[in-house]
Amino acid sequence: MPPRRIRAPARPVNIELDGRTIVADADASIASALVGAGELLLARSPKFHRPRGPSCMRGGCDGCLMRVDGVPNVMTCQCTPREGAVVEQQNVTLSAKVDLLRATDWFFSKGMNHHEMFAGIPGAQHVMLAFARRISGLGELPDAASPPRPEGVPTIETDVLVVGGGAAGLATAVALRGRGARVVLCDDRHALGGALLAFPRGARVAAADAQGAARGGSVGDVEVDALLARSLEEVERAGVDVRLEATVIGVLEGDDWLFVHPRDGLVRVRARAHVVATGGHDPTPLFEGNDLPGVMSARAAGRLLRDGVLCGERIVVDGDGPHARAFALAARAEGAEVEVLERASVHSVSGLSRVRSVTVHDESGRATRRHCDALVFDGPVAPTFELAVQAGAATRHERFGYVVLADERGRVLPDPNPRDARPSPALFAIGEVAGAALDPTAFAARADALSAAVLEVVGVES
Ligand code: FES
Repeated sequence: MPPRRIRAPARPVNIELDGRTIVADADASIASALVGAGELLLARSPKFHRPRGPSCMRGGCDGCLMRVDGVPNVMTCQCTPREGAVVEQQNVTLSAKVDLLRATDWFFSKGMNHHEMFAGIPGAQHVMLAFARRISGLGELPDAASPPRPEGVPTIETDVLVVGGGAAGLATAVALRGRGARVVLCDDRHALGGALLAFPRGARVAAADAQGAARGGSVGDVEVDALLARSLEEVERAGVDVRLEATVIGVLEGDDWLFVHPRDGLVRVRARAHVVATGGHDPTPLFEGNDLPGVMSARAAGRLLRDGVLCGERIVVDGDGPHARAFALAARAEGAEVEVLERASVHSVSGLSRVRSVTVHDESGRATRRHCDALVFDGPVAPTFELAVQAGAATRHERFGYVVLADERGRVLPDPNPRDARPSPALFAIGEVAGAALDPTAFAARADALSAAVLEVVGVES
């Protein structure tokens, strides 16, 4: 069964997908609306025209790139719809479902290296190169030139820039404001909440008190929606300068960081201290067919459920993280048939243009097949370390990725071999980017200690 909408949009707007009208929610993403209308196959990959669908719902994969209002390569999971928006599939010849060039994947099943193909054969290599260039690419050029951006790059001056509006970033921004610092909080999505927004409504998340956190264990749980509502209220009451859809893309020089905003373009933030609370990337599932539409992270499936969209009727869940548990519970409550794999692992996923079945191996290596519409995977996230490294942070490779190294108060340890001539002088990290498990209560306790340390560096009177 295709995915379906289980709750009517709170703020309905009409959008158009290849001539068909779809009712979307103005407060949720375009990708959610499309999946809710049964569309999992949103595009084709740039080179082999393999089917693509949303896998992360947070701007971390290429599964939802589409042409929106004549603009190619829009991450439809990251933007909200306007009334009358025109959405088109890209990289397709005919349609995403019946793409003539999907034959490319079959012809070149071992990969297409057009630089070497027919090398040395006069004329043939030239033809091959022209063919490969013709069928590859990310969509077509925009219908119209971009509207002129404001002249120059505006600068915002503040005491502290916090990057990331999840549980760790929100707690940090509030704690800093409570100590009198001016705070700019940037988040690349259209709403604050980060990984909390990847829990279905009504879900609960582990919570450790300070002692529990010190023991490395959880001592209870809290309701995500109540926690989120309280955090947002605190952020507003504290007067944090919140910038949504603001993607921090780089460190210019130690104090100056840049973000890009869809309307304002580039904006420079000059801060005396920086806190990286960028969370983590979804784990990469390692099995054949991991790029088929219908294979998605538990956080993506949870985001869809929060938006009122169920990703399938028969769902296999692989992994035992908090998002997988919360998703399985909520999806069952909505009537889906959900199997959570225990003592078995996914070997491969099959289907032509979306998931149709999953082959799993049990502990003895015996293979069995499950027919299903979706495979939802979960596991430890890989820290989103890239920005911190640009700013001169030291990292250590652990099993699931590079962890940003910080002392017990959150101050980042400097890279012993920095590539940047002038690393950020006051750099801090908190949350999953620094290797902690998602635990909002523990993050709040840590944010308090971190904000005191930040204030010692920037010298604002508490
Ligand atoms: S980038 Fe949109 S679903 Fe991954």
